[in-house]
This record gives sequence, structure tokens and C-alpha cells, in this order.
Amino acid sequence: MSLKLVTAILAYFLVHIVVGAAASDDVGFIFQGFQSSNLSLDGLATVTNNGLLRITNTTKFRTGHAFYPNPINFKSTHNSSAFSFSTQFVFAIVPEVSRVNGPGIAFVIAPTRNLTEVGFSQFLGLVDGNTDGNQTNHVFAVELDTFQHQEVEDINANHVGIDVNSVKSIVSSPASYHANNNNSFDNLTLSSGQRMQLWVEYDGADRRINVTLAPIAAAKPHTPLLSLTYDLSPILKQTMYVGFSAASSPLDMGTSQFVLGWSFRVNGVAQALDLSRLPKLPRFGPKKVSKFFTVGLPLICILLSLTLTSGVAYYLRRKWKYAEVLEEWELAYGPHRFKYKDLYVATKGFTEKLLLGEGGFGRVYKGILTTNKVEVAVKKVSHHASQGMKEFVAEIVSIGRLSHRNLVPLLGYCRRKGELLLVYEFMSKGSLDSFLFKQPKRTLNWSERFRVIRGVASGLLYLHEEWEQVVIHRDVKASNVLLDDELNGRLGDFGLARLYDHGTLPQTTHVAGSLGYLAPEYSRTGKATTSTDVYAFGAFLLEVACGRRPIETRAEPEENIILVDWVFSCWKAGNILQAVDQKLGTEYVKEEAEMVLKLGLLCSHSQPKIRPSMRQVLLYLDGSVALPDLSPLAMGISAFGLGSAQPAGFEDIPSSFATFTDQYFLHSVADSILSGGR
Ligand SMILES: *[C@@H]1O[C@H](CO)[C@@H](O)[C@H](O)[C@H]1NC(C)=O
Ligand SMILES: *[C@@H]1O[C@H](CO)[C@@H](O)[C@H](O)[C@H]1NC(C)=O
Ligand SMILES: *[C@@H]1O[C@H](CO)[C@@H](O)[C@H](O)[C@H]1NC(C)=O
Ligand SMILES: *[C@@H]1O[C@H](CO)[C@@H](O)[C@H](O)[C@H]1NC(C)=O
Ligand SMILES: *[C@@H]1O[C@H](CO)[C@@H](O)[C@H](O)[C@H]1NC(C)=O
Ligand SMILES: *[C@@H]1O[C@H](CO)[C@@H](O)[C@H](O)[C@H]1NC(C)=O
Ligand SMILES: *[C@@H]1O[C@H](CO)[C@@H](O)[C@H](O)[C@H]1NC(C)=O
Ligand SMILES: *[C@@H]1O[C@H](CO)[C@@H](O)[C@H](O)[C@H]1NC(C)=O
Repeated sequence: MSLKLVTAILAYFLVHIVVGAAASDDVGFIFQGFQSSNLSLDGLATVTNNGLLRITNTTKFRTGHAFYPNPINFKSTHNSSAFSFSTQFVFAIVPEVSRVNGPGIAFVIAPTRNLTEVGFSQFLGLVDGNTDGNQTNHVFAVELDTFQHQEVEDINANHVGIDVNSVKSIVSSPASYHANNNNSFDNLTLSSGQRMQLWVEYDGADRRINVTLAPIAAAKPHTPLLSLTYDLSPILKQTMYVGFSAASSPLDMGTSQFVLGWSFRVNGVAQALDLSRLPKLPRFGPKKVSKFFTVGLPLICILLSLTLTSGVAYYLRRKWKYAEVLEEWELAYGPHRFKYKDLYVATKGFTEKLLLGEGGFGRVYKGILTTNKVEVAVKKVSHHASQGMKEFVAEIVSIGRLSHRNLVPLLGYCRRKGELLLVYEFMSKGSLDSFLFKQPKRTLNWSERFRVIRGVASGLLYLHEEWEQVVIHRDVKASNVLLDDELNGRLGDFGLARLYDHGTLPQTTHVAGSLGYLAPEYSRTGKATTSTDVYAFGAFLLEVACGRRPIETRAEPEENIILVDWVFSCWKAGNILQAVDQKLGTEYVKEEAEMVLKLGLLCSHSQPKIRPSMRQVLLYLDGSVALPDLSPLAMGISAFGLGSAQPAGFEDIPSSFATFTDQYFLHSVADSILSGGR
């Protein structure tokens, strides 16, 4: 056993012998924590597991007292003068319920351990309303008061006072201390939850009481906070009890008052406490709460507001992303009106991967509607004009009611700011021009071509004559003819050009349509009629039969091939079949091919009156009526029964086509126009 340990054990036994000794032998004691202290406790007073002495807690209207268990002699005889004494203790007043100060505590010397149970905090558990101030009390106390009770003349809510028989202090001072190397007092807050030290010293010869307060870290100040000349001899009886007293608050502002260590001595200086050996204060709820309020709550608020902002941003982004224009008049078109969001989802956000094609009027995307798994083609048309939109949508919707096996069904539409979306049924084989020009996926044979021609003709006839209204397509051309699974030709994109009659589109001229398909009188007057459609159909016939575009551009403008002119020159040279698509070789029906080419020329006549109607076109195609011979066209005019006697000679024809050609060159000032109209 080490010497140190032996000394420690001896010291331990010494303390216990002193504690257990008779009152007369008592000279002093020291508690570094109250673990095995055998204090006399009443009321709310307890010793916690780790050795803290707690005088009261938040239970209301109660008192708590903790006394050294044995009486202490303060005088040699009952009427001699009181001995000197000295005490030091470390305390902490911890606000537990609110940040409002609760009651304080008092160091007390009293003739009995049985002090009042009257739990009003102003009496500090020392006296009650009846006994306060009575000379028979024989109570001396130093109060550490953290609440200002006006009725007992407290100076403030944070003071130290010397009390004799009454809680009305003889002298008191705001809690503060005089640092040794400083000339002024530094304030302290008693109920800060911080540990503090208090010294109470009585000089029996000088009859002076000194009370000194200091924070835990400070050395004992040389200058006491309170220094009172007062003879305690009449107050102190021969044997007295020393301890601590407090009363809990009647209000919701309880505090816990802790004493961590205590030393006391009569006729001498109390042994100094070893601050490092004192028990630890528990972590307190209010501290956690305050941390919650100072750190947690703002953090939560920040997080919450962040979440909220991002939520709102997300919502707005979504709203903006899926924003559409919906006006009241459109409500009538309910079923034809698509939600932008649905189209967005169907086309996977209009991804490039699903881009089917790009035309003069906009881009076309493939999509699958999530609701019914229907494959659709969504055409995005940029459009900024709001005037005329109402009429146009009305037309679109009525077109949506068209039903013919050679028309691409229009399912509906959607409008966004500056954008119009048309939803068509998806045609699996794509557009006809990809089967004709450049490197076709596969070349259509003659009978397939003829069937497509016949189909488109019958679709156009339906639009012109067989439906309740006359519908002018305005943009008949190979790229607007789509092929379904069975390679049936179906006209799509109808009515679109009409949109640009109303609105404006920067890259097109005021006349909308596609160059090479525009009837001369249409580009002159801007008036679309069924015969302007027939004119375009004529160009389409030549396209299909020749496998060439109406205008084939070369590097030199003079070398551009105007299909009509070329077919016409072939015919004039007496070999119209020379114009038939080379890719077909000889695999075609000569009579049909000749008829189609001649019909193409006839439909492309510059005089609208000479062009046949779609009904006549169908009769020729079906072979029910023979195509008139082109050479005696002069008499052909009357033969077609197209009215007026105005003789349009055969010689007119080349000049008619020349008219077109001139016009073409007038119009195609720049190649940009060519690239604009596909
Ligand atoms: C206060 O202490 C007393 C005695 O130890 C105990 O009975 C009571 O429950 C405590 N009250 C609170 C609120 O902790
Ligand atoms: C504790 O104090 C009581 C009197 O309050 C006494 O009877 C008892 O013997 C003491 N016990 C110890 C261990 O000091
Ligand atoms: C009290 O002290 C006085 C002298 O100061 C003495 O005369 C008197 O007898 C004492 N009284 C008692 C009860 O001892
Ligand atoms: C304590 O004092 C009360 C009255 O204030 C009394 O009723 C009680 O008996 C006393 N108890 C003791 C142990 O003296
Ligand atoms: C002081 O208390 C005693 C006993 O408790 C009582 O007889 C006396 O009347 C009280 N004096 C005053 C002034 O209240
Ligand atoms: C001395 O007092 C002044 C004024 O109260 C204070 O600012 C300063 O910190 C004190 N110095 C020390 C060492 O306590
Ligand atoms: C200390 O407290 C007193 C009373 O509360 C106040 O008057 C004084 O201004 C305080 N001093 C400092 C330095 O805060
Ligand atoms: C009390 O304080 C005064 C002045 O600060 C000092 O002279 C005196 O010695 C002190 N008394 C005790 C007992 O500490």
C-alpha cells in the first residue's frame, strides 16, 4: 500500500470521527461533494447519486433544508460572546423551467433543524409570515436571492444579503465580486447555472461579518462584497445548526439549487475546497432546450425553408415546364384538347431520339400516350399569333372529325405560349418522300405507287366534295403523304398552311405552302381554292411517277430542274415514258404511267379552269373515263366542258409552264426560300 493511500484512508476516518463526534468537540468539517455526508435533509432537499446537494427542485410551494446533522457550539456559555467562524461553499442556481429567475438559497445558522415548511420563496424557508422579524427566531442567514420580492424590500433580482431573524436584509448588494487586481466590482448572475463560491466569515472579536462572492475560477477576493459590523452574540445560541435553506417558487419558474461542496470551521479559517474534486453538475434540460432554440430550431427553420423553397421552385418549374395556354372558348373542345404534360411524358420530354422529322412548319416527334398506349405523332408548330387562333382551332377540331381511310387521323391539339401542338395518329411507315427520293428505304413498285396516288386522290376528293364542308388542304406533297402498315397513302398535315394565313411566320412568304406545289394564281392572289390543291396534286403525281422532286436544285440556278417543264419537254419530244422513275426499270404498266404523267401535266396547268376537279381525276385514275389527248388541247378545253369559249391553244401550254418557271425564279430570289419550303 502506498503512503498516499494510507494517508487518504486515515484522512477519511478522521473526517468521520470528527463528524461523528460530540457537539462540543466540533471544530469544523469539509464536504467535497455530499456522497456519504449524513446530512439532515427535509422537504425537497436531496443528495443526488453523484453527490450533489440539491435544496429544492421545481415542485411548487415547498421548502428544502439541509443541515449538518450535529449541533455546533458557537459560544462557551449561553450568555458569552459568539465565537468566530468561517465557511466556504460552492453552489449553482440552475433555472430549469423558464429563463425567468426563480427563488434563491440561503446559508443559515439556526437553533433548530426544524425550520418552517411555508413554501413562499420570499421567506427562503427561514421564517414564515408570522415569525418574520421576531427576536425569538435566532436565525442568522446569508441570502443569495435571485428574485426581487418587493414586500421584503429586495434591492433587485440578483443580490447577496445578510439576514438576521428576518428575510429583510440588514445589508445587501448586487451580486458581484472584486477581482484582486481590479479596483471595481464585476457583476455576476447568480441564476446563470454557473458554479460560484461564497465565503462567510465572522470575526468574534471585531464583531464583523464579511461576505465574499466569486466565480468558480477566481481566487478568493481580498475585498469582500459585504462587510458588516454586527454582534452576533445575541442571535447565536450556544449550540446552533448550520446548513442551507430554500423555498420553491409558487410560479412556473422553478430552479434547482445545488451545493457542490462545503467546508465550515468555528474559531478558524474554513479549509479551502478542492474545486477539482467537486461533483459535476448534470446537463440540464433547459440548457438542451436553449441549445435547441439557439441552434436546432434555426437549423430546422433553415432546412424547412430550404425544403419549402426548393419545393416551390420545383413546383414552379414543373408548372412552367408543363404550362399551356387554355382559353375559355377552348373548353368546348374538351376531348380534343391534350394536356401538355401528357404529351411531354409521351414523347419523353420531346427527346431528339424520338424526332421523326423536321419540316417547314415544325418538328414531329413520336410518342406513346401513357393513358391508352396509343402511338402518336406530335407536331410542334411554333406560332406566335394569337389572333386567328380561335378560328384555326375550330377548324382543327372540325378536321379532327374527318374520317377517311386516306387521311391521317388528327387526334387533338394543345396550345402553349408561342407553340401549337398537333397530335396525329402515328403512321408506322413514315412519309412517302422517304420511299421516293435520295436513297429510299425501299423503292415502291409501280402498283404500290399507283395505289398511293389513287388513295391520296380519294382522300383529297373527300376533303373537297364529300364532307359537310369544303376543306382545302393547301399543302399536298409527297412529304405530307404518310404510309400506314398496308402502304396505304394517307394525307396528313391538313389545314396547317391556313394557320399562317392568320398569323405570321418569319421564314415564309405571306403565301404558305411549299414551293413547286404552289399554283401560280395562288401565289399571285393568295387565295387558296380546290384547284390550287389540284395543282399541287399534279406536282405530286409527277413526283411519284418520276421519283424526283418538283424542283431539283443544282449548283447553278440555270441548271435547276423544274419537273413539270422537264416532263412536258419529254412529252413534246414524243417520249413521255422517258420521265418515269429510272428505279422502276421497265417494271411498270405503260398505260397507267403515261396516264399519270399526262394527268400530272394537266393538273399543273397554269389556268385553273383547265385543271380537272378531284372527282374527274379519280375517274381518269379508275379508267372509267379516258384521259383526253393532250395534243389537241385547244379542243380538249371544250371537251372537258370547262365552260368559257376563251380559246386556250395548245401553244399556250408551254408558255403556261413558262409562266410558272418565271414565277419560280422570281420567287426563288435566294436558296433560303428553297430550303424553307420542303
Ligand atoms: C422534487 O424533489 C422531491 C423530493 O426529492 C420529489 O419527490 C419530487 O418528485 C421532485 N420534483 C421534481 C419536479 O423533480
Ligand atoms: C447520521 O446522523 C444521525 C442524526 O441525524 C445519527 O443518528 C447517525 O448516527 C448518523 N450516522 C452517521 C453514519 O454518521
Ligand atoms: C450571564 O453573564 C453575566 C455576566 O456577564 C452573569 O452575571 C450571569 O450570571 C450570567 N448568567 C447565567 C445564566 O449564566
Ligand atoms: C417541527 O415544527 C412543527 C411546527 O412548526 C412541529 O409541528 C413539529 O412537531 C416539529 N418537529 C420536530 C421534529 O421538532
Ligand atoms: C414572537 O414569537 C413569540 C413566540 O413565537 C410570540 O410569543 C411573540 O408574540 C412574537 N412577537 C412578535 C412581535 O410577533
Ligand atoms: C477589471 O474590471 C474591468 C471593468 O469592470 C473589466 O473590464 C476587466 O475585465 C477586469 N479585469 C479583470 C482581470 O478581472
Ligand atoms: C452591475 O449591476 C448593477 C446593478 O444591477 C448595475 O447598476 C451596474 O451597472 C452593473 N455593472 C456592470 C459593469 O455591468
Ligand atoms: C473583513 O473585511 C475587512 C475589509 O475588507 C478586513 O479588514 C477584515 O480583515 C475582514 N475580516 C475577516 C474576518 O475576514
